[in-house]
Amino acid sequence: VKTIRVKTKPPYTVVIGEGALGKLPSVLRNVSPSKVVIVSSPRVRKHWGTELERVLRATRMPSYWIEVPDGEQHKTLRTVEAITRSMARAGADRRSVVIAFGGGVVGDMAGFAAATFMRGISLIQLPTTLLGQVDASVGGKTGVDLPEGKNLLGAFHQPKAVIVDLRFLSTLPSRQFRAGLFEVLKCGFIADRSLLGYCERHREEILRCEPDALLSIVSSALQVKAKIVAADERESGQRRILNFGHTIGHAIEAATRYRSLLHGEAVAWGIIAAAEIGANVGVTRPDHAERIVEAVMAFGPLPPVTAKPREVLSRMKADKKNVYGIPHFVLVPEVGSAKVVKGVDPRIVRAAVEGICQA
Ligand SMILES: NC(=O)c1ccc[n+]([C@@H]2O[C@H](COP(=O)([O-])OP(=O)(O)OC[C@H]3O[C@@H](n4cnc5c(N)ncnc54)[C@H](O)[C@@H]3O)[C@@H](O)[C@H]2O)c1
Ligand SMILES: [Zn+2]
Repeated sequence: VKTIRVKTKPPYTVVIGEGALGKLPSVLRNVSPSKVVIVSSPRVRKHWGTELERVLRATRMPSYWIEVPDGEQHKTLRTVEAITRSMARAGADRRSVVIAFGGGVVGDMAGFAAATFMRGISLIQLPTTLLGQVDASVGGKTGVDLPEGKNLLGAFHQPKAVIVDLRFLSTLPSRQFRAGLFEVLKCGFIADRSLLGYCERHREEILRCEPDALLSIVSSALQVKAKIVAADERESGQRRILNFGHTIGHAIEAATRYRSLLHGEAVAWGIIAAAEIGANVGVTRPDHAERIVEAVMAFGPLPPVTAKPREVLSRMKADKKNVYGIPHFVLVPEVGSAKVVKGVDPRIVRAAVEGICQA
């Protein structure tokens, strides 16, 4: 088991390993809650609910399950209202703790419920997908979607602790697992050359989910995220580099109506396009752009982007991360480093988007 300290204000610990769940009792003793509220989905509860209950029973703390339906389409204020009303009926109070037990969808909603219930109560993230483990559970972003756009409503609310039990990944569908790997690779591209080298050399072990390989890549990716988040809690500067591949990735998700590609897969295409853009504006070393594209492809195949380039480009203009309507691109000069670039020639962007669209 490895631990990483996230030095936000206040700081918290991420525990990573096979069986990290065993650390939950001591985390809970520190929080000393009046009641434990577990927010989860039916699928996660089916696979791992008994295991969590066994660990909780030993603490003798009163606990209560709230199940929310699976899927991004349920990441809404309506579901958060249902969660918080259920908490109120169960007698949750200011000293209760919410455990977010599921993928990023559950994590974002349970986190938002914890951020807002009685103006904010304690939260523990217990992520069960690779994306949740390396990305969504750390950094304090919580929230829901609106019909007008993804993640438009939310709050920053740092957890008391994050427990990353790698055993949970054993029941994850392989496509979900690979989608998470692209966020791991992203961390390598922007900030950790040795993580990238490890992924290139140990592709087989990673895809077979061998414990040593998982521990290595998940803890390295979390180290990158923890460091960047602590340096820029509210995303005013450096934290934006975590959006490498996301400007175009988000536009692809929107243009394909969130149906044919998983988030990580759309980001993978976005990374390929960003490497191409970087090389063409003279920011990314050409050999490094090639290495980025090859590393992404090695963890494919990716479903095709069945949207028109025009559609993707117009979605990009509507991105909430734009400043005065001008898209900013995160580009990688050399693997292991990143910077935010504005004023990229729209023709270069269009060519890169045309290069990845297959409609
Ligand atoms: N807050 C953040 O900083 C942040 C960062 C990245 C992504 N996100 C959000 O995360 C969400 C995506 O998260 P996701 O990719 O985890 O998707 P998800 O939460 O929808 O989970 C994917 C699927 O895997 C299932 N599942 C979860 N754990 C499982 C397990 N151990 N075994 C078997 N099946 C399991 C779920 O039931 C679901 O069907 C998006 O809403 C995105 O906006 C948030
Ligand atoms: Zn992402």
